[in-house]
Amino acid sequence: MVVWKAVSTSVEMTEALGEAMGRVSVSGDILTLDGDLGAGKTAFTRGFSRGMGLRSRVTSPTFTIVNEYSDKDGVPKLFHFDTYRLGNSDDFYDAGLDEYFSRGGVCVIEWGKVIEDALPSDRIRMEIAGNGDEREITFSIAERDLARMKTVREEMEKGGMRFEDIGV
Ligand SMILES: Nc1ncnc2c1ncn2[C@@H]1O[C@H](COP(=O)(O)OP(=O)(O)O)[C@@H](O)[C@H]1O
Ligand SMILES: [Mg+2]
Repeated sequence: MVVWKAVSTSVEMTEALGEAMGRVSVSGDILTLDGDLGAGKTAFTRGFSRGMGLRSRVTSPTFTIVNEYSDKDGVPKLFHFDTYRLGNSDDFYDAGLDEYFSRGGVCVIEWGKVIEDALPSDRIRMEIAGNGDEREITFSIAERDLARMKTVREEMEKGGMRFEDIGV
């Protein structure tokens, strides 16, 4: 596991990061986003869906728990969760939501820590913290995802986003 920190200085930068990650995402990816209300998890996902080439505008799945986004042929590609309203992973299983992990799309999960026990360890983890316009984003990246995440980092660094290596 490799850990990076990056600083986003605007909502646009967080969306651009999402867009870059959406571009390199592959079917079956699971990405968890943790951080307080207003951290920018939904903003990130809005960019992510654009990066995947999806057209619908992402809205918060706060009340629906999960929103599906399909490509122009109607094939579901992105499952966007907000598990804030679930108590724990039992609620997640009881609602049959774990089935989404095998549906062949990308799962982006806001408040992943709520359902920690139900999540595969093979995933990209992001934590977002901060206030004002500045956000510190911590990435935990497994070896198998490192090459494509380096592409994202290089692209974002060219755009002025600062990254720091925290450790392995
Ligand atoms: N650097 C930043 N990255 C993301 N959002 C930011 C940033 N700076 C300010 N914001 C604001 O913070 C809010 C993030 O909201 P949202 O994405 O809905 O958060 P969450 O889904 O984590 O609750 C938006 O109003 C956005 O404009
Ligand atoms: Mg949100």
